[in-house]
Amino acid sequence: MQALGIDIGGSGIKGAIVDVNTGELISERLRIATPTPSTPAAVSEAVVDLVAQLNWQGPIGCGFPAIIDSGVARSAANIDPSWVDINVAEVLQEATGQPCLVVNDADAAGVAEMRFGSGQGRTGSVIVVTIGTGLGSAFFIDGRLFPNTELGHLRLKNGVAERYASGAVRKNEDLSWKVWSKRLNKFFAQVERLFSPELIIIGGGVSRRHEKFFPFLDIQAELLPAKLRNQAGIIGAACLSAEQAD
Ligand code: BGC
Repeated sequence: MQALGIDIGGSGIKGAIVDVNTGELISERLRIATPTPSTPAAVSEAVVDLVAQLNWQGPIGCGFPAIIDSGVARSAANIDPSWVDINVAEVLQEATGQPCLVVNDADAAGVAEMRFGSGQGRTGSVIVVTIGTGLGSAFFIDGRLFPNTELGHLRLKNGVAERYASGAVRKNEDLSWKVWSKRLNKFFAQVERLFSPELIIIGGGVSRRHEKFFPFLDIQAELLPAKLRNQAGIIGAACLSAEQAD
């Protein structure tokens, strides 16, 4: 079975058609810059554009950077605040005319990593952290997702962790890998103190460059880079939407 996976992020909206049995992309991966402001109307337009470019009809799975409660956004840190309390699934379904499932973006990426990536076959406690514009997280126990964890919003340095240690902060403040890693260490120290996961998987675009910063990380748990890199969100969202459509 196939489904269209879309990853709505703070800086880009990416999409591709996915073979949900193998987790492989079977179309090119398209990217549209996230519109500013990223209002429901503007984001819907970008999603419609992606669907048209890929000439897609069928289930659509969307990862969205917010707490998602049965399709409804309950937060908005890296997306326009006008999304809060909006049924994202309904908005996108209406705009595209296709059935849409919406989940948190990091949860979608985590699901893909557990099925086809670095977490494949892993039991026990696993935390997937996606590093990008924000810091996203997905918790798994024996492969089952505990949704809507928001580790990027742990308190750190008088603010939230993602404003101190995200990938965007590294770029914007022009931090060296070493200095940025020190910040990540403070974040992961809190995560480990609270949750003691057996395995931590680091995803997001920066996981491609893991050899630059993994040597500086001081983490007790087993640590792995995401295998599916920043395609994980697309793949996971597509898989979940295909299951719902089934
Ligand atoms: C949001 C999360 C999201 C993460 C990564 C955070 O700001 O609160 O829901 O998963 O960014 O996009």
